[in-house]
Amino acid sequence: MPNFKGTRFTNAHETLIWCSMGEKAKYTFNYRAMKTLNDELQMRSDWVLPICGGQERLKKAGHKVHPTQKPEALLYRVMLATTNKGDVVLDPFFGTGTTGAVAKRLGREWIGCERESIYREAALERIELALPLDESALTTMQSPKAAPKVAFGTLVETGLITAGAKVFDKKRKLSATVRADGSLVAGAEIGSIHGLGAKLQGAPSCNGWTFWHIEHEGELKPLDAIRQLYLLATED
Ligand SMILES: C[S@@+](CC[C@H](N)C(=O)[O-])C[C@H]1O[C@@H](n2cnc3c(N)ncnc32)[C@H](O)[C@@H]1O
Repeated sequence: MPNFKGTRFTNAHETLIWCSMGEKAKYTFNYRAMKTLNDELQMRSDWVLPICGGQERLKKAGHKVHPTQKPEALLYRVMLATTNKGDVVLDPFFGTGTTGAVAKRLGREWIGCERESIYREAALERIELALPLDESALTTMQSPKAAPKVAFGTLVETGLITAGAKVFDKKRKLSATVRADGSLVAGAEIGSIHGLGAKLQGAPSCNGWTFWHIEHEGELKPLDAIRQLYLLATED
């Protein structure tokens, strides 16, 4: 963290400015991918990332090439959140080309401006060595709105969720059993994932995809996570 001497609070953060082209302009924000990156919790606005060090830090003759080389993890998160594959990312203060290296890994195009030739050369050399991720690894989680509609029954039909499996609310206070047609049963109550969720909670409505959870690979996952697995597996 750049710090300034003096009797003052020591710097503990840097501020990112996130802008759009206008008040009503459309902008990209990959909400679902961010949530997935953050273990199924909405991504926070304060990020804790280690400063750039180790193998990642560019050095020449034992000296740092650039005094403020940014960590790739930072650009990775910024780009994953705000761009899509094939988008062009402009970095007008390119330095060692962290933006370019991460853009290449993530299948984004890049434009960089850097006035110091020593940094430009280091950046180009570094980007040349960066390996783009495999096409299949570049597909990220989509928001339910952007994703094609999937009926819960389709997950049962395709065997991703088996009929007879138990589903629970997050705290395991409520449970239900999945039936062959994709409906749920809990005691005498029967309904869709949404309808039964609402009925058991005495709520006017319920998003069954996020309310109900299922054991998957030793963890309790929302049904939405299984739906995302289905979408990833069936994408063209
Ligand atoms: C904070 S550093 C960027 C570090 C970079 N993010 C990295 O990870 O290596 C800012 C860079 O902007 C460059 N710079 C400053 N003013 C510039 C200008 N007017 N035109 C082009 N480059 C400039 C500096 O030479 C410096 O390398």
